[in-house]
Amino acid sequence: EKMILNGEIRNRSEIKVEIEDRGYQFGDGVYEVIRIYNGKLFTSEMHLARLIESAKKINITIPYTIEEIEVKLKELIAENAITFGTVYMQFTRGVSPRNHAFPSTDVAPVYVAYTKEVPYSGVLKPGAKAITVEDIRWLRCDIKSLNLLGNILAKQKAAEAGCFEAIQHRCGTVTEGSSSNVSIVVNGELKTHPATNLILNGITRQVMIKICKDLGISYKEDDFTLEELLAAEEVIMTSTTAEITPITEIDGQAIGNGESGTVTRQLQQAFHAEIE
Ligand code: PDD
Repeated sequence: EKMILNGEIRNRSEIKVEIEDRGYQFGDGVYEVIRIYNGKLFTSEMHLARLIESAKKINITIPYTIEEIEVKLKELIAENAITFGTVYMQFTRGVSPRNHAFPSTDVAPVYVAYTKEVPYSGVLKPGAKAITVEDIRWLRCDIKSLNLLGNILAKQKAAEAGCFEAIQHRCGTVTEGSSSNVSIVVNGELKTHPATNLILNGITRQVMIKICKDLGISYKEDDFTLEELLAAEEVIMTSTTAEITPITEIDGQAIGNGESGTVTRQLQQAFHAEIE
């Protein structure tokens, strides 16, 4: 199996993590997950633009252009012969003796990317269950940071409750899932948290909004409460790995009639059409 280390394609067995890599010690870095459909990267320009933005926000300079990164990722996908899957990639601030403050600017970031096979059936995803949890994360959730403790603790609570996702809220205002964005449908209109510092501006969320525009589904980027969430006709989670998934039960309570709704199905179908 091949991986990318600092822009070069290498065998996985040759690659080692340094003890004093700042990603390993501090979670000091940024990452992306990009989907591969039919051997091709999906919405990679948007993911790579966000990666560079996230890095900039924490003063990491990525020493490659989007095009350079893309060319190598395509090579990696071909080498590993991935038809359906994901690419995981991360940049850390680099290797330096442990010290909270940044190392000198001559320390280069460490870039790693690898692929994973993920089956794709094209079948519309059925309803999933979720719980609600308090959002205990920091106030820069717009950065796709390697620091995921808050997200991990939320997801673990969902797993222990036999649920797929944990929907987070700050003082009763819904922010996002532990690894996804969350939207609701009320009176046929889609409502989703605006892209502020409190959420990650998901690429799938952005594709969903584009689909709403294309299909004339009315939508509003506005936050909503836990009460609105539980009373919604439809609840939708979006992410690179979950694509567009209906949430049909929250905290043991059915959403709508407990089945995937019409707006959700419309969005799912249009999303599948984007892929092909
Ligand atoms: N998670 N919000 C959070 C906190 C996320 O971690 C993710 C993605 C999203 C959705 O973003 P996108 O549509 O660009 O994938 C929203 C990825 C898939 C992960 O951590 O594995």
